Amino acid sequence: FSAFLTDSFGRRHSYLRISLTERCNLRCQYCMPEEGVPLTPKADLLTTEEILTLARLFVKEGVDKIRLTGGEPLIRPDVVDIVAQLRRLEGLRTIGITTNGINLARLLPQLQKAGLSAINISLDTLVPAKFEFIVRRKGFHKVMEGIHKAIELGYSPVKVNCVVMRGLNEDELLDFVALTEGLPLDVRFIEYMPFDGNRWNFKKMVSYKEMLDTLRQQWPELEKLPEEESSTAKAFKIPGFRGQVSFITSMSEHFCGTCNRLRITADGNLKVCLFGNSEVSLRDHLRGGASEEELLRVIGAAVGRKKRQHAELFLMRQDSPPALPSTFRNSLRV
Ligand code: GTP
Ligand code: 5AD
Ligand code: SF4
Repeated sequence: FSAFLTDSFGRRHSYLRISLTERCNLRCQYCMPEEGVPLTPKADLLTTEEILTLARLFVKEGVDKIRLTGGEPLIRPDVVDIVAQLRRLEGLRTIGITTNGINLARLLPQLQKAGLSAINISLDTLVPAKFEFIVRRKGFHKVMEGIHKAIELGYSPVKVNCVVMRGLNEDELLDFVALTEGLPLDVRFIEYMPFDGNRWNFKKMVSYKEMLDTLRQQWPELEKLPEEESSTAKAFKIPGFRGQVSFITSMSEHFCGTCNRLRITADGNLKVCLFGNSEVSLRDHLRGGASEEELLRVIGAAVGRKKRQHAELFLMRQDSPPALPSTFRNSLRV
């Protein structure tokens, strides 16, 4: 495995997340302010060709999974073409996408033909009116249609990402779990995380332990599944149910120790950690005519500086609200 993608703690980074755009057709309260985010001028965003050049380099060095993210990746007009070209990279085993699902039903047949192998869909409520409140737009039925289309086209499991917020949707946990009885879903309950401008508050966060207790009261037979290496999620299953339920415990039990992820922002910055603002512009090196070796040195240096874990997450473990720096560029959209 490439030394450039191995950090000082021996973590091998074989999973690359590429943001295709900062734009989004929704305005989820926990992610974006109502007015949206300041957009980078188009000329500063990576072109399709630049995305492929970088992807090729990372795959050559050992990346075997690429996830396309955003903003909302499905609003980039050439997303199908990007998937089709990525598929040609030898050594790349998984091409995933994380989407809000609005455009999914329409695009999925083409995406599947192009080679898309895994789908994660964000959905935080099963109540249409609440959906509109949380995402500040319409579209609940489109998302549901997207989920069903993914199942119909054979994706299994279809992952559903549900950010749990106290006072908003923590009363829907059991309804989400019930969906897994007949459908091949992996419903993933995510601990609410703080990002710039999302009005995160310690009291609004529902912890993994608390969610698990709620589920166990209804389904004492809930069974823990073996841990998958480097997964963000702890998986469980109710015997006899077709799907499964998982928890993404970024706040209460971080999983930095087995992190294998790197990210490239829509404007071409390499980010070695979701939390943390240190970014290095691969785009500028590309446009400056850097050779492959030079690019790899830049990437290797950034990976080499990756911290063991993030300080904020560490503080969370002492059961106290974390002291947050004023801004984290919201890399959840990466
Ligand atoms: P899979 O590839 O299917 O395992 O998905 P994923 O969990 O890696 O990615 P997804 O885009 O579905 O993100 C779901 C949630 O995982 C996000 O809301 C984050 O809470 C969390 N997550 C993803 N990547 C990271 C990461 O690098 N660090 C931390 N702390 N959380 C992450
Ligand atoms: N806390 C936890 N998860 C979040 N996501 C977006 N913002 C937050 C947040 N503040 C989730 C989205 C999407 C995934 C990529 O990140 O719901 O599913
Ligand atoms: Fe858009 Fe996803 Fe952010 Fe919601 S969480 S506003 S769908 S990028």
